[in-house]
Amino acid sequence: MPQHYPSPTQSSHWAALEQAAETLDTLSLPQLIKDSAHPFTHDFVTCGPITLDASRHLITKPIWNHLKGLAEDQKLSEFRDKMFAGDKINIFEKRSVLHTALRKPRQSEIKVDGHNVMPDVYDVLDRMELFCKSIHDKNTITDIVNIGIGGSYLGPEMVSHALTPYHIKGINAHFVANIDGHDLQATLEKCKPQSTLFLIASKTFTTQETMTNAHSAKQWIVNHLGEQAVIHHFAALSTNMDAAKTFGIKQENVFPFWDWVGGRFSLWSAIGLPIALTIGFENFRALLDGAAKMDDHFVNAPFDQNIPVILALVGLWYRTFCNMPALAILPYDQRLDRLPAYLQQLDMESNGKSVDRNNKPFSYKSGPILFGEPGTNGQHAFYQLIHQGQTIIPCEFIGIVKNHHEYDHHHRILNAHLLAQAKALAEGRNLEDAGGNPQKVFKGNRPCSLIMLDCLTPDALGQLIALYEHKIFVQGLVWNINSFDQWGVELGKQIASHILEHFDNPQDSDLDHMTCKLLGILT
Ligand code: F6P
Repeated sequence: MPQHYPSPTQSSHWAALEQAAETLDTLSLPQLIKDSAHPFTHDFVTCGPITLDASRHLITKPIWNHLKGLAEDQKLSEFRDKMFAGDKINIFEKRSVLHTALRKPRQSEIKVDGHNVMPDVYDVLDRMELFCKSIHDKNTITDIVNIGIGGSYLGPEMVSHALTPYHIKGINAHFVANIDGHDLQATLEKCKPQSTLFLIASKTFTTQETMTNAHSAKQWIVNHLGEQAVIHHFAALSTNMDAAKTFGIKQENVFPFWDWVGGRFSLWSAIGLPIALTIGFENFRALLDGAAKMDDHFVNAPFDQNIPVILALVGLWYRTFCNMPALAILPYDQRLDRLPAYLQQLDMESNGKSVDRNNKPFSYKSGPILFGEPGTNGQHAFYQLIHQGQTIIPCEFIGIVKNHHEYDHHHRILNAHLLAQAKALAEGRNLEDAGGNPQKVFKGNRPCSLIMLDCLTPDALGQLIALYEHKIFVQGLVWNINSFDQWGVELGKQIASHILEHFDNPQDSDLDHMTCKLLGILT
């Protein structure tokens, strides 16, 4: 008998939250912020370098209590512990979900099918450390080109970029993801074959975009340096050792990981090698240690003090009960400009689903549409809609207390804007203060979180990323979703293969007539 996972709609808290949402219009943020009936206006919630101001949310203590009750009814603590213990909570792929093991201390013990995975984790980490050292010591490689897509690209690229002040001098990191040949060509134009190292990053080592780019890069090396040079210029980061070997990568340059690491959760594994090569292994270790601290916080802090749980449940309240469709991720730091793209995959590939863990379609609203840009750039683009549009879009602002640059007055202006946006969204401006001009009225009452980091260090960034991983886990669990597969990406891939087969002879295919006509102009 397969396990039955109760629908969240059966919880008594669900009906109470639906009822509470009907009176959402009666809640006033400026009033709530002053009010003792709000759960988060008395103080910040903190975890190491992260401070959360959750005061600007349209919730009351009773709503918060129902959200916590709903999470408890969905057995949040039990499933969180199952995840950390290596239980196969990725039920449809029958896999453990153990990205948290990748950042645990060496002496930990975590078993998958009775096998302690920690020696394997540290075997690879130790090899990565030695590899980084040899590349840095030899001084012959100037350009690292990571070829990978999705989870084998977005995390490493986002982190490498965010940690620019930690970059090792003389090493340039490049990321090629797109099958669009412009991506590879533009990168190769910046590199010299003799001093370039390609990292072929693919969990499966079969992804069409990655393998096509990898083969073209290999040809580039062969054309310039000859066949025998390939083994010196390629490394593989993959679970598919055989395919990496067949590609021509020597054993010692293959860095494995395991099926219990999901692609979008894999930056902590061998997939993080481009990060380690760019910022140095010690800083990569600090990133892992930061994530481990957030893991401890997530496991041990009570829900009222638990940053991932608070962000998850508040987000769930808006999405499911208040019918708000989107979430804006707004980092006030240019170095985090790839964070929204990274979180899009993490969140939308995990929770953008409409069939539950019992294989039953559900009709309540789940996974929001994520988008975002660094402030202040976004202020001059889409914030208009966030302030005055008809759709209320909850915002997550991310601010950094201490800057790494020498322009302190820029940093003050940046952070003044950050605080101003949160205030403007919450308080708005009435007709009288708008001088009677309705165009200048801001309704206000638009919610946001402020997530402040002391400084954008590897440790703090590790904590921030793990915070989002856990937030998404909590939401998926309450929605009764398996957050760890991604069947929604398959159909398009299959149709693309079919189209490719018939690219030059569409008339002999079963493709629809408009697709055939389009192929006519493409060939
Ligand atoms: O197409 C989606 C996906 O499977 C992602 O989940 C994954 O991160 C990406 O493709 C890349 O897959 P791989 O690492 O196997 O090349």
